[in-house]
Amino acid sequence: MTEEEAKQKINNLTEKINYYNHKYYQESTSEITDFGFDQLLEELIQLEEAYPQYRWPDSPSQRVGGTITKEFPTVYHDYPMLSLSNTYSEKELSEFDKRVAKALNGNSYEYFCELKFDGVAISLHYENGLLTRAASRGDGVRGDDITSNVKTVRSIPLRVKGSGLPSKFEVRGEIFMPRQVFEAINQAREKNGEPALANPRNAASGTLKMQDSTIVSQRKLDCYLYALVGDDLPAGTHEDAVTLLEKWGFPVSPTYQKCKNIQEVFEYINYWESRRLTLPLDTDGVVVKVNSHNQQRVLGNTAKSPRWAIAYKYKALNAATVLEKIIYQVGRTGAITPVACLKPVALAGTIVKRASLHNANEINRLDLRLGDTVLVEKGGEIIPKVTGIDLSKRPPHSVPIVYIDHCPACGSKLVRKAGEAQHFCPNTEGCPPQIKGRIEHFIQRRAMDINSIGKETVALLHEKGLVHNPADLYKLRYEDVYELEGFKDLSTRNLLNGIEASKNVPFENVLFALGIRYVGRTVAEKLARHFNNIDQLMQASYEALLNVPEIGERIALSVIQFFQDEDNLRMIQQLREAGLQFEVDSDTAPESSQLAGKSFVISGVFETFSREELKEKIRTNGGQVISAVSGKLDYLLAGDNMGPAKRQKAESLGVKIISEQDFLQMLAH
Ligand code: IVH
Repeated sequence: MTEEEAKQKINNLTEKINYYNHKYYQESTSEITDFGFDQLLEELIQLEEAYPQYRWPDSPSQRVGGTITKEFPTVYHDYPMLSLSNTYSEKELSEFDKRVAKALNGNSYEYFCELKFDGVAISLHYENGLLTRAASRGDGVRGDDITSNVKTVRSIPLRVKGSGLPSKFEVRGEIFMPRQVFEAINQAREKNGEPALANPRNAASGTLKMQDSTIVSQRKLDCYLYALVGDDLPAGTHEDAVTLLEKWGFPVSPTYQKCKNIQEVFEYINYWESRRLTLPLDTDGVVVKVNSHNQQRVLGNTAKSPRWAIAYKYKALNAATVLEKIIYQVGRTGAITPVACLKPVALAGTIVKRASLHNANEINRLDLRLGDTVLVEKGGEIIPKVTGIDLSKRPPHSVPIVYIDHCPACGSKLVRKAGEAQHFCPNTEGCPPQIKGRIEHFIQRRAMDINSIGKETVALLHEKGLVHNPADLYKLRYEDVYELEGFKDLSTRNLLNGIEASKNVPFENVLFALGIRYVGRTVAEKLARHFNNIDQLMQASYEALLNVPEIGERIALSVIQFFQDEDNLRMIQQLREAGLQFEVDSDTAPESSQLAGKSFVISGVFETFSREELKEKIRTNGGQVISAVSGKLDYLLAGDNMGPAKRQKAESLGVKIISEQDFLQMLAH
């Protein structure tokens, strides 16, 4: 290809992809398959790498990230980004209306109502139609320049066109993580042994602060714009401004409404109170704005917030029910988690029977007692939490809950390390749920992938004194297993074959399987690739660990501690002797990075490859094989006889479904 041809091709591809993007995000129609789209994008990215001088400033390749920012530059806002004062009742809102009426001297006025989106405020600058700067709110006066991260948000236009477009303008709005995306991410994190993200808003805010825009791109953030900012706006009212935003192709939530008076505002608030729960994102209230820009100027601002707007906050979703008992769960790390068992109650579409209590401090803080009527709240979290008590309903003679001081499973005295809120059972080697938990963790699919053993078998093996730690699995003999209840010749051989096969799973799986606290599957992979083998990792200093991208103090410390423990060292030695992989296999050194950053779920039967071969193929080309379909997944690789549930889930989450042929093409490309 000549340079001129490359330039032409880049122009064509950019135009084509931007056209499809516009169709998809602004008009909700799709004229190309996802796979076809990805192919075009991939072709463009490769050409741009070879000929960076021809990359367009609005190139769609920026959507997939690729930039690392160590520290975000500070930028000053042209106009401060104010906050809103909150109201919680009709009375307070009526008072706001009275203040507005008074300040406007009896002139008539209208309101414009929007929902209050629960995300992260963003300011976007456009010059000659191009997105030039995206900044976070920061302290309102100055924020961070997070342009490369924001450019990965697919619904934010990189270039806008349209009549009457000012040469320079600023728009503001809210970047958010759709609830479905949030839930999918947390499901995956849970599987990975990583702590769940607290709620979609924190998730969005944490994501925007990430240094690697490629990860931001995978997090599927979205955005609603709700303000056009400036002095000489081509809009006399907020309504005009919103209409322009829509016309110029910005994503605007269609939930707004103009209201003639405060009565209509109340109606709007009532209308959305429950309907908002069906929206794809969290909202926590209504923003009421005086519509006329002139009147907004007359009303002005206080230091913190405008006098022409106010937020009405909905009450959180909660229900009252009775606390029947508290149970204490022991995790594989020995951490004790108290869980409230409740009289079943309906809350936001589900029946709630259990709620999280976090730790002893939380129980004390609430002064919780059995029989109390508790308030249970459902936020973005996976399980609901107890947020308060209705003291008027407290039964007489109730006594405060005394937190357990001995392990409910093994009776050991619990300990609480300085600085930790949770109690721990220190009996690492002798506490059954910890032992079984570690083995269950070890054999899971994303670790050693020993699917010939289930939870019941783990319990049985432990009960019979055959398996005490993961290394014991490799010492099992035919006669040990054959004698177990329910085992015959075939099932025994099957179980042992599964264990034998696990000796080949790659080092990163083994590292994850070891169960080092805070080392989830992704972190294990990073550590494995960085240190190459277990010896290097074991010798790594705290500083060396901190040097690994995305490894923080908490993980570094935990890794150091793990390798200081004699029992752990002994187990590793035994696993080594058993023949597990403790270094990155140079035979499976990458063939290419064609699939880098892409995740796959494999389902069904295939023509050219066995499932194992497919997994290997994906890994050696830089991709990741995972077990569950989630919103974060890139591809569901579908063979014959794939289960309908997987397909349905993938379809509903918008995950691309590809065939073996598509996959081969992807590799050949
Ligand atoms: S207008 C002067 N409209 O709420 C502030 N803000 O507490 C003008 N927010 O930082 C903001 N939805 O992040 C406005 N429809 C909406 C909003 C909204 C959410 C957030 C925004 C702002 C915060 C103010």
